[in-house]
Amino acid sequence: FPCHKIRNFSIIAHIDHGKSTLADRLLEMTGTIKTDSRSVNQQVLDKLKVERERGITVKAQTASMFYQQNELRFLLNLIDTPGHVDFSWEVSRSLAACQGALLLVDASRGVQAQSLSVFHAARERGLTIIPILNKVDLSTAQPDRVKAQMHSIFGIDPTDVLHISAKTGEGISGVLRAIVERIPPPSGEITGRLKAFLFDSSYDRYRGVISLVSIQDGVLRKGDKIASCHTRKKYEITELGIMHPEEVPTAQLLPGQVGYIACNMRQSSEAHIGDTLHRVGDAVEPMPGFQPAKAMVFAGIYPLESSDFPNLEESIKRLTLTDRSVAVQRESSVALGQGYRLGFLGSLHMDVFRQRLEDEYDANIVVTAPTVPYKVVYKDRTVMVSNPTDFPDVVDTSAHVCEVQEPIVKASIIVPEEYLGEMMVLCFEHRAEDVDHQYLETSGEGSNRAMLTCTLPLSEIVAHFFDKLKSRSSGFASFDYDDAGYKQSSLVKMMFLLNNKPVDALALIVHRSAEQRTGRVWVKKLHKVIPRQLFEVPIQAVVGKRVIARETLSALRADVTAGLYGGHYERKMKHLENQKEAKRKLKRIGRVDLPQEAFFDILSTR
Ligand code: GTP
Repeated sequence: FPCHKIRNFSIIAHIDHGKSTLADRLLEMTGTIKTDSRSVNQQVLDKLKVERERGITVKAQTASMFYQQNELRFLLNLIDTPGHVDFSWEVSRSLAACQGALLLVDASRGVQAQSLSVFHAARERGLTIIPILNKVDLSTAQPDRVKAQMHSIFGIDPTDVLHISAKTGEGISGVLRAIVERIPPPSGEITGRLKAFLFDSSYDRYRGVISLVSIQDGVLRKGDKIASCHTRKKYEITELGIMHPEEVPTAQLLPGQVGYIACNMRQSSEAHIGDTLHRVGDAVEPMPGFQPAKAMVFAGIYPLESSDFPNLEESIKRLTLTDRSVAVQRESSVALGQGYRLGFLGSLHMDVFRQRLEDEYDANIVVTAPTVPYKVVYKDRTVMVSNPTDFPDVVDTSAHVCEVQEPIVKASIIVPEEYLGEMMVLCFEHRAEDVDHQYLETSGEGSNRAMLTCTLPLSEIVAHFFDKLKSRSSGFASFDYDDAGYKQSSLVKMMFLLNNKPVDALALIVHRSAEQRTGRVWVKKLHKVIPRQLFEVPIQAVVGKRVIARETLSALRADVTAGLYGGHYERKMKHLENQKEAKRKLKRIGRVDLPQEAFFDILSTR
């Protein structure tokens, strides 16, 4: 396939606007997959179980298809992108391999927060954008109104917008025509020095790392000796081909083509996303690489039963082979024993990983409260802290800590105007600043939609923000955010003491304005969950030396057999046995015995 007969494109859309359904239709229409071989709702490109359960695409998948137009045969490479705010890193790396993007907007729901962010990502990369209205079959579709929004927000000419229903198949042939006619072909020199751009990788037990590449210049064949610009390591191509949509081996990959390669790469850490591969011996200029994925939400993960640690370790290793964006570090806690501290792109990413881990590992895990990476500025250095236990007990210059900074984000929320007030309240409850809003439409029937923008501390949105946003807007609000750097903040470390001993796994970093509320809520919760002991146990929330909240757990009667009068020996022995069994599973903290389940209860109800 010469370059001028190739088109490389992505589908970009807000979550649920029908990306996977459209991808399926395109694959069907081009005969790449057969319609009757699958049930209607099972999307081939969504591979993970959790993706199917949640109806979201987590990992970008790529497929090539052949399309015949007026005697000419084209090779269309679809690079699927994930549709959630946490995965904008994957979106941007997928876009780097494309020349065009199909911007899909749901004709009944209109432009949403992520439509904006994906549009801007594609625009920044200079891609040709084909605007498409999907779901025109719905009776609630308002094509003219949504086109007016697209015009006012993106400057898109309404006559360029295609109308389709990915569900019924209406308009899909027009999409294929537009791909060929509007998106420019890739440029590349077949005689040039080999340059292959690595944009995704996965792991196969037998063949090692499988990388997805787009060929910029030159030809890649089986047996070729290649090297990485980034690591300088050398490999030999053992297999290569296209994704159609499964792997189909081919003799070679030409400029403009997108395909997979297997070489003798054993470690997935060797496949650097954004790396340039070249022929051994050739000097080439690497293509501008990428920032590595930045973990923004951290949590400790521990087995419920300490003896299960090796299993947990094995499962985490296996899962991170297929999800390279998870940052992994061993950690141990006095209360919870051996575990891991994992870093995620965002809170959905964390939930997805956690679910995959639970499926894979088949046992309960304890996940500590999520935290974001803080910057602690000492007189002579700045330290990143992503574990509350490493946070200084007091922040003041006498303790050599000048200040602490927290990550903030620029957030945008799109809602029908009647919810604007409620959304503002929600943002203010979460320490919003620079709150502003604008209306996206100026006329039309029914309610107008408004866009609210503000800055928010990242820590405020990692826990329940999204759920609150959805429930307080009856599901109508859409939300997106972007990194906005760090800002000085008044943060404190809150410890919880049981019988005057701190429990490390429960440490929290909270804003000073929330310390009273958080302290009281937590102490109450602990009081409910911790089993009574043989003596009275004070439960306290402290910040530095100040006690913020306190509850007291009253003492239990000592002898479990005390109530069994009559001297029935066997019965008495059985009780003592039971007590011994229960004791084995207890964690002892400051003379207080805590079952690991208590942590599970406390942390899972956060
Ligand atoms: P993520 O993978 O989560 O990003 O979502 P997506 O954008 O891929 O959306 P998906 O294709 O999963 O579609 C979301 C829902 O919309 C599914 O229930 C589809 O069946 C439905 N849907 C997609 N296209 C159409 C359409 O043209 N008409 C109607 N009525 N429903 C559609």
